Amino acid sequence: MRIRIFDTSHEAGLYAASIVEQTILNTAHPVLGLATGSTALPLYEELVRFHRCGLDMAHVRSINLDEYVGLGADHPQSYRYFMNQHLFGHVNIPEEQTHVPNGTATDLASACLDYDDIVRKYPIDIQILGIGVNGHIGFNEPDDLLLSNTHVVTLTHETVRSNARFFESEDDVPKQAITLGVQAILQAKSIILMAFGEAKADAIARSIQGEVRTDVPASILQLHRDVTFILDTQSASKLSASRSMRG
Ligand code: GLP
Repeated sequence: MRIRIFDTSHEAGLYAASIVEQTILNTAHPVLGLATGSTALPLYEELVRFHRCGLDMAHVRSINLDEYVGLGADHPQSYRYFMNQHLFGHVNIPEEQTHVPNGTATDLASACLDYDDIVRKYPIDIQILGIGVNGHIGFNEPDDLLLSNTHVVTLTHETVRSNARFFESEDDVPKQAITLGVQAILQAKSIILMAFGEAKADAIARSIQGEVRTDVPASILQLHRDVTFILDTQSASKLSASRSMRG
């Protein structure tokens, strides 16, 4: 496990983008596992800038982590819309090579199975993750068990409350989502988890320095052999110095 701590999220985003760029340049058919949320924005800003400076992404495939149930591509809070706005609309990844779970599928169970087929067919080279204040990754919420495959999840009150900042009110936040399970995440060849701000400090300390526990889903990343935590000083503020210095 590597830990990198930056003064600003902008610098952290640049670092993350450089790692993703290496994957894009050094892999014949790179598959990026992508995340939504404000944390991913500095990374996408830099990737868009790299593309404007010449980075070709025509051979890239992307597989997003999750989507709200009930929100279609034209809903401004859907994760497909987010990806179009912040990345896909500005780079040259062909649309048919971008995958986001279908939150408006009439048969959600079969949409989940289809999504697992995509991940099996296109193994993820590098998985980008944010983290919820409760330690969730994707929408794998703290629970007695973590599910392996893509599934429909009922969001915790904490997540609904936390994500309400993007909606008019808490009532407008969908209560369910489709998320990749932990198996697909752990099967990625490498993983980057990004976290910024004090609100994430507890979740980060518990994920990196605590025990591996299903009620702290990101702690399962301790089991992966190629994980980089990209943090700012606030999100790293509850790590004990000896460990955070090790990098
Ligand atoms: C949502 C997403 C997560 C993301 C989290 C953090 O809950 N499902 O994948 O990591 O938000 O969001 P933010 O980066 O805005 O704090």
